[in-house]
Amino acid sequence: MNVIKKAKLPQDFFYLRRMEEDDLPDVLKIENLSYSKPWHVSSFKGEIDNYPISNAYVIVYRPLNKVIGYIIYWHVEKEIQISNIAVSPDFRMMGIAEAVIRQVIVQIKREGAEFVLLEVRPSNYAALSLYNKLGFKVLGIRRNYYSDPREDAMLMGKSFA
Ligand SMILES: CC(C)(COP(=O)(O)OP(=O)(O)OC[C@H]1O[C@@H](n2cnc3c(N)ncnc32)[C@H](O)[C@@H]1OP(=O)(O)O)[C@@H](O)C(=O)NCCC(=O)NCCS
Repeated sequence: MNVIKKAKLPQDFFYLRRMEEDDLPDVLKIENLSYSKPWHVSSFKGEIDNYPISNAYVIVYRPLNKVIGYIIYWHVEKEIQISNIAVSPDFRMMGIAEAVIRQVIVQIKREGAEFVLLEVRPSNYAALSLYNKLGFKVLGIRRNYYSDPREDAMLMGKSFA
């Protein structure tokens, strides 16, 4: 597969901050551009309200103070489950998701987590490449996990205990 390489965005050009309800119009725009079955606004509100089990962060492009992505993960005891991560199409392939996941792993290790899990569509080449690069391993398959279109999920995990 041909992949157009872009320059990496220096890390001081973006940062994470907690997602707030005012961010949801920007978040939904990115969500709708990113998935065949996007989350409804109520799902994002539920995640914001479920803090501290759910940790919802937006990725902010510092020069324009603009939301360019988000990551949502659940933290239950020693386990982290990444339930959503997306980067605005204009900002993809610039190293942002990789840097964000690395940053989250540093943070959650400090908070005592030992394991991170996520599900991914086998057809999602970009996400699979990202998780492989970060050292995630395939732990199993969840049959018919996704709809629109129906597809299995690959369960992937990374231990850092
Ligand atoms: C998956 C996603 C979050 C990646 O975000 P990103 O900021 O573009 O990813 P990065 O630039 O940090 O990529 C890091 C590595 O992932 C891999 N990668 C990312 N996008 C890729 C693509 N389109 N094709 C091939 N490899 C890709 C590469 O190995 C890349 O490292 P490299 O550039 O040094 O080769 C983004 O494509 C996205 O938002 N997709 C839609 C939502 C989604 O699918 N989320 C994941 C659900 S499980």
